[in-house]
Amino acid sequence: MENIDIFNSREDYNKSKIDFNCLPENPMLLFEKWIAIAVENNNKESIPFVLSTVSIKNIPSSRVVLLRNILNEGLFFYTNYNSKKSKDIEVNNVVAANFFWKDLEKQIRVTGEVNKISNELSDVYFASRPRNSQLSAWSSNQSEILDFNFDLDDKVNFYSKKFFNQDVKRPDNWGGYCINPHEIEFWQGRPSRLHDRIKYFLDKGKWHKMRISP
Ligand SMILES: Cc1cc2nc3c(=O)[nH]c(=O)nc-3n(C[C@H](O)[C@H](O)[C@H](O)COP(=O)(O)O)c2cc1C
Repeated sequence: MENIDIFNSREDYNKSKIDFNCLPENPMLLFEKWIAIAVENNNKESIPFVLSTVSIKNIPSSRVVLLRNILNEGLFFYTNYNSKKSKDIEVNNVVAANFFWKDLEKQIRVTGEVNKISNELSDVYFASRPRNSQLSAWSSNQSEILDFNFDLDDKVNFYSKKFFNQDVKRPDNWGGYCINPHEIEFWQGRPSRLHDRIKYFLDKGKWHKMRISP
């Protein structure tokens, strides 16, 4: 670490602020607004976020997934239903999601309940994926141990032949989840670490909000 000075590296944040007098009652309106800003700012690229789950042994783990839709106030992502995250979700479906955009000096933290979406909705999304990604979904038992010399391309070729001249159907163990937030915090970096923060929480079906200290 001799040449890397993270001890002394500092940035001041000053790109935007939260107008506390102009906050919507429903945080999903602000959430969608910030996502739109992020998409616009990032050449319309996808929206990654860190998804944290907790295992049956109470051990948390985090990984990046992509936000693929916002529907009926739920956040959609897609994955393998046999993966580590899915096993965690089976025993504890309360998850955390963290979105961070360095360029925008913005962070959103979400906690909520996650549930599998319908097969029909997963089918629609799977059908929209490039064929190679569809074949990869068949070829990978996500997060299972592989021999070091295992050739994934062989498996892809196998499925490529299997689905030759036909659509690749969605594997039963691959599909979407929807996170229904019950807490959402918006963080906007401000000068001298005096950041703007606003936290919404759901109580008996109604959203409440409060400003919180930097
Ligand atoms: C930018 C980025 C996007 C990713 N998007 C997804 C995704 O949408 N779905 C997914 O299952 N894994 C995605 N991954 C891979 C996950 O981070 C992770 O490696 C994988 O899902 C296995 O996680 P698990 O063992 O905790 O289940 C992405 C990784 C990165 C870095």
